[in-house]
Amino acid sequence: MIANYILPVLAAVGSVAAQSSTCSPSGGTTTINSQADATGLANCKTLKGSVLIGANAGPVIDISGPSQVTGDITVENNGVITTLQSTNLGAVGGAFTLRNLTILTTFQFTSLQSVKTIDWQSLPALGSLTITAPGVTQATDVKISDTFLSTLDGIDLTSVRSMNINNNRRLTKFSTQLGNLSDILNIQANGRQLEVTMPNLIWIANMTIANVTSFSVPSLAVVNGSARFDFNYFTSFSAPNLTSARSGDISFVGNANLANITMPQLTSIGGGLLIANNTGLGELNGFQKLSEIGGAVKLRGNFTVVEFPSVDDVKGAFDISSTANIQDECDKFKSLAPTNQGGNGMIQGLYTCTSNNEDANNDTNSTSTGGGSSSSGGSSSSSGDDKNAASSLTISNALLGVAALAGFASLL
Ligand SMILES: *[C@@H]1O[C@H](CO)[C@@H](O)[C@H](O)[C@H]1NC(C)=O
Ligand SMILES: *[C@@H]1O[C@H](CO)[C@@H](O)[C@H](O)[C@H]1NC(C)=O
Ligand SMILES: *[C@@H]1O[C@H](CO)[C@@H](O)[C@H](O)[C@H]1NC(C)=O
Ligand SMILES: *[C@@H]1O[C@H](CO)[C@@H](O)[C@H](O)[C@H]1NC(C)=O
Ligand SMILES: *[C@@H]1O[C@H](CO)[C@@H](O)[C@H](O)[C@H]1NC(C)=O
Ligand SMILES: *[C@@H]1O[C@H](CO)[C@@H](O)[C@H](O)[C@H]1NC(C)=O
Ligand SMILES: *[C@@H]1O[C@H](CO)[C@@H](O)[C@H](O)[C@H]1NC(C)=O
Ligand SMILES: *[C@@H]1O[C@H](CO)[C@@H](O)[C@H](O)[C@H]1NC(C)=O
Ligand SMILES: *[C@@H]1O[C@H](CO)[C@@H](O)[C@H](O)[C@H]1NC(C)=O
Ligand SMILES: *[C@@H]1O[C@H](CO)[C@@H](O)[C@H](O)[C@H]1NC(C)=O
Ligand SMILES: *[C@@H]1O[C@H](CO)[C@@H](O)[C@H](O)[C@H]1NC(C)=O
Repeated sequence: MIANYILPVLAAVGSVAAQSSTCSPSGGTTTINSQADATGLANCKTLKGSVLIGANAGPVIDISGPSQVTGDITVENNGVITTLQSTNLGAVGGAFTLRNLTILTTFQFTSLQSVKTIDWQSLPALGSLTITAPGVTQATDVKISDTFLSTLDGIDLTSVRSMNINNNRRLTKFSTQLGNLSDILNIQANGRQLEVTMPNLIWIANMTIANVTSFSVPSLAVVNGSARFDFNYFTSFSAPNLTSARSGDISFVGNANLANITMPQLTSIGGGLLIANNTGLGELNGFQKLSEIGGAVKLRGNFTVVEFPSVDDVKGAFDISSTANIQDECDKFKSLAPTNQGGNGMIQGLYTCTSNNEDANNDTNSTSTGGGSSSSGGSSSSSGDDKNAASSLTISNALLGVAALAGFASLL
């Protein structure tokens, strides 16, 4: 069995001992500048420490020898390496870093199964991975960015802490058995036709999904953070099993073709709901069970229909604006407005609703500063935006959370 933990480098034993099956190079790092250096590891079954492959090593480096490297493997800024391979390396205890390898075309690791951190960036010639099944099934963090990969076959994890797949312009399919993602999933700026399929994903902390053509999450039940969908090309999105977004926002911004969002089981959002500038979205009626929203609701678009039949508790502001006439919906939601606006108080923050607003799509800002980059903004008729600073309420740390505080504070 391959163990996947880092053994301390206990002693510096001089250079690699050729006869020993466990090698502990002095200084903890083995530097490989040529194939001869790599061949020197042939008798090390376990290599304690890290491997650094030099900037001039290549064109072929075969590190067959160790079945385990307890530390990192790093290859950076190397313009001569074309092939990196090993027939028997199974486990890397630290980070496997490949960066700025301009002519690397072959990555062939037929036994690789476990890597703590995959960090592969700027590999413009790497078109495929050769990793024999089952492939890499264990990793904690994965970042694959700016490669020539058209598939990620060979990486098949069931659970991971973070996964960041971006700027892989040829990537058109990503299908993974991932069930659980405990920090963040970020998929962005890959091939324009990228179809993402995650049939087993049940639980995720946060996700940002942009520039994809389809995104399928039939089993997703819980988002324990935020879910953000920006500039995607899909015409519909559904999360049929999603029941709650626990502490963050759900947002859809600038998905030009999006005509249908359905989350039929969603009952609560811990943060806010932002739907803006999805100009093909005429009917917003896919949230039939949504009742509780911990932040603000901001809906801006070309809506003709806006239905949230179960909403009965919105902690923040409720701001709807459409390019079309939605007077009927405005009247309906007005009954839920704060009591000082004539409603029953189910909406606690400021209530605004406008029809026939040509500029409805211009404002895609979240209404707070809470989550990071966006600044305060939103409806021109809102007020009290800056009163949140001294509040001791903690509704959420989400993007729209501050709007919740501001809206709430404006009633005090
Ligand atoms: C990438 O590596 C090449 C050497 O192959 C080097 O000249 C170049 O500066 C590196 N680029 C960056 C951004 O580090
Ligand atoms: C996913 O991981 C989180 C955090 O480790 C855990 O609380 C949750 O129960 C897991 N969910 C599933 C479906 O495995
Ligand atoms: C991808 O989405 C980002 C937003 O996350 C956007 O800024 C960018 O323009 C999009 N890229 C393409 C090629 O559509
Ligand atoms: C959706 O949730 C139900 C109830 O928890 C479960 O029985 C069903 O298998 C889930 N569907 C999928 C596709 O995961
Ligand atoms: C879920 O989110 C809450 C609020 O951010 C956090 O306190 C909790 O640790 C998260 N749960 C897991 C299992 O990450
Ligand atoms: C992910 O979500 C958790 C809540 O589940 C939040 O506390 C955390 O800050 C988020 N992480 C990132 C990187 O957005
Ligand atoms: C929207 O999508 C849902 C689920 O995929 C589907 O049942 C429904 O018919 C679609 N509605 C429209 C108007 O296309
Ligand atoms: C959305 O509304 C704007 C402003 O009225 C209009 O210019 C645009 O054509 C509409 N888009 C769609 C897809 O209906
Ligand atoms: C809103 O956007 C439209 C088209 O993008 C533009 O013509 C108009 O001037 C914008 N209005 C404001 C107030 O920025
Ligand atoms: C709205 O989306 C369109 C593309 O669908 C884009 O051209 C425009 O800049 C976006 N407006 C804002 C305010 O983001
Ligand atoms: C959105 O935010 C940007 C910068 O954060 C700001 O310049 C812009 O005026 C805001 N737009 C609206 C409509 O509030």
